[in-house]
Amino acid sequence: MVEIGNFTLGVLTSGGDAPGMNAAIRAVARTALANNAKLIGVTNGFEGLVNGEFRLMGARDVGGILQRGGTILQTRRSKRFAEAKGQREAIRRMNEAGMNGLIVIGGDGSLRGAHALAQQGIKVVGIPASIDNDIWGTDMSIGVDTALNTIMEAVDKLRDTASSHSRAFLIETMGRNSGYLAVMAGIVCGAEIVLMPEVSVTVEEIAQLVEDAYRRGKTHAIIIVAEGANIRTTDLARIIDEMDVGFKTRVTILGHIQRGGRPTALDRLIAASLGVKAVEAILEGQTDIMIGMKGLGVTTVPLADVSEHSRSNALDYYEMAKTLAR
Ligand code: F6P
Repeated sequence: MVEIGNFTLGVLTSGGDAPGMNAAIRAVARTALANNAKLIGVTNGFEGLVNGEFRLMGARDVGGILQRGGTILQTRRSKRFAEAKGQREAIRRMNEAGMNGLIVIGGDGSLRGAHALAQQGIKVVGIPASIDNDIWGTDMSIGVDTALNTIMEAVDKLRDTASSHSRAFLIETMGRNSGYLAVMAGIVCGAEIVLMPEVSVTVEEIAQLVEDAYRRGKTHAIIIVAEGANIRTTDLARIIDEMDVGFKTRVTILGHIQRGGRPTALDRLIAASLGVKAVEAILEGQTDIMIGMKGLGVTTVPLADVSEHSRSNALDYYEMAKTLAR
């Protein structure tokens, strides 16, 4: 094992950015430096690893970033790294730079990339960061709480105008194939209807629910539509309008606003906990693992398991969202 004093640690962010990635970079950097390890920041994710886009980082390089969204290391979705040739180049670059280990901060695709490197003998520890909350082995990923708060703020505002005009608002949330953000938004924003990929609902059923809400005397109907739901948001709005169910519709696609902004206290806390533990683990010689959240504590999960599964617990909350929508 490398003496800790001689350890050179790399860190990168990869995949879609998530609020709190900077807080994680800071935690990784400060913990590495506190343990006398050298730190190399890799720019542009795995693409930067293949290209050797490296810079030595000190404690001051991560000053003033804790509260900022995005990632100071930049991020990419790298096609080159997905191939064996790209991974071979990346390993050569790491060896040239004397890198003894790598912390990968990113979503499920990025953690699969981390596992591929670990399988080839590189010491790698992953940190889950993605607003989608679809990463297996962790209760929460960095960025989820901030994204949910952004959605909540937007929906609260949209409800004001929806009520004033007696309208149905269809609000599309991100989440790729996961309905987590949508169903959670449904609960915390008091939505009338939640549509998500895990549950298939027909247009007729949705129209009926909107009409029922109108008959019950509601002044608005908030319909949260996960981007992965089986019906396109704009098509659904047009059809509901044509069916004349009481409310006229408007559509708001929240889009990338959900990925930006200052991380919440919870996201900063998660980023700090995972960052510290990830560095401690790699310095102890552990590899091919992800550090995740279990409740309010941290847990260690093999990257092989993370790579093979994806997490979807949106269904666990679906009935609750429905019950509260009455
Ligand atoms: O994985 C995070 C995410 O924001 C998803 O929710 C969304 O489907 C996707 O990334 C959007 O990707 P891009 O930023 O490449 O458009």
